[in-house]
Amino acid sequence: MNQFNGKPQQITFDITDRCQMQCVTCSKWKTAASDVINREMTAEEWKEALTKLRNWLGEGFWFCFSGGEPFLRPDIFELAEYAHSLGIKIASMTNAFGIQNLYEKIADSKIESLNISLNAINNPLIHDESRGRTGSYDKVIDAIRELQKIKKEKNSSLGINIATIMFPENIEEIIPLVEFVTRNKINGIMFQLLDDKESFHGYNVQKGCQTSLYKMPQELRVKYKNMAKRAIEVIDRLIEMKRAGHSIYNSYEQLEAMKIFFNNPDDILNNIICDVGSTNFAIDPYGDVRLCFNMEPVGNIKETLPEEIWLNEKSENCRKMTKKCKMYCRMLNCNFKHNFANFNKSFMRKCINKITRILKR
Ligand SMILES: C[S@@+](CC[C@H](N)C(=O)[O-])C[C@H]1O[C@@H](n2cnc3c(N)ncnc32)[C@H](O)[C@@H]1O
Ligand code: SF4
Ligand code: SF4
Repeated sequence: MNQFNGKPQQITFDITDRCQMQCVTCSKWKTAASDVINREMTAEEWKEALTKLRNWLGEGFWFCFSGGEPFLRPDIFELAEYAHSLGIKIASMTNAFGIQNLYEKIADSKIESLNISLNAINNPLIHDESRGRTGSYDKVIDAIRELQKIKKEKNSSLGINIATIMFPENIEEIIPLVEFVTRNKINGIMFQLLDDKESFHGYNVQKGCQTSLYKMPQELRVKYKNMAKRAIEVIDRLIEMKRAGHSIYNSYEQLEAMKIFFNNPDDILNNIICDVGSTNFAIDPYGDVRLCFNMEPVGNIKETLPEEIWLNEKSENCRKMTKKCKMYCRMLNCNFKHNFANFNKSFMRKCINKITRILKR
């Protein structure tokens, strides 16, 4: 019999696999099939999913629209309105490339928190090259400036946040990005470690994977090694800045774990357990539900109640697999924060002391 009785804390609606960018870190734009739009759940189907979740979880839970680029679906506002009418709170991710005609609409909408992806501030080329489209940086900066202005005029409570991936080319941009956030009274910034681009894959072609057999690609391992010393110094500075009151969303524990990861990825990989199976409920554009975005679906929200999916045999098996999983996406924001309790703290102290000694040399 199933002994698990928790409920999900992190609910994601990936409403489309489509995207107009060509990010070098992501494979969604390459893998979304051409007829994908015909297979995406309709607004009515998403509303039914929202009603089912509300009936199960009650009012007040948060979910996040993501993708692909969620603002490629014009009905995102209708879905946000509907979710709000049910007492559900809504956040959304965006690359901010196609939202220039939507600023007023976003500020007036029921989306309460907008997370804008930005990978550099002093050098626009770094952002544009990471996103694969010239002019992307200018659009993000325009979106931030205009949304901040409209927010003030309308006295809107919309939260604006920055989401930044950390990779070798942008390591000198990390501290200036925090300074930019503070100077411009943006609500906050969160940093992501660079993950394998194959993890960010169109769901229509995703077959799931045997995560316990997975090895970090050598190319990525070399990237991490080459940036390690500087990355550790930068993260130390982030910790100081967070203590001084800059709005950095990553927890101190995650920042410390990132340092250990840069020093030797295997130290983390052998010492934390992934807890996504107990916390995550991610719905893809076709209604398939996953507890881990890299694994096979555990059910489809169009056909089955979410509470039945959450406790079915596939979910139970998936939970067992996630506990054994050796992939390093445990370090990603959406996966890490739940499992710090599983990390061996005395081992962590030893690692931090070792890193401090290396840095002092
Ligand atoms: C997959 S995107 C979807 C939402 C939207 N298209 C965007 O880019 O903001 C969600 C977040 O994942 C980040 N991301 C993309 N590739 C990544 C990678 N290889 N490792 C870590 N984060 C990545 C993006 O920068 C973005 O902040
Ligand atoms: S990271 Fe976002 S913007 Fe970039 S290709 Fe992937 S889905 Fe599109
Ligand atoms: S580490 Fe966690 S999120 Fe990543 S593949 Fe394994 S189970 Fe999934």
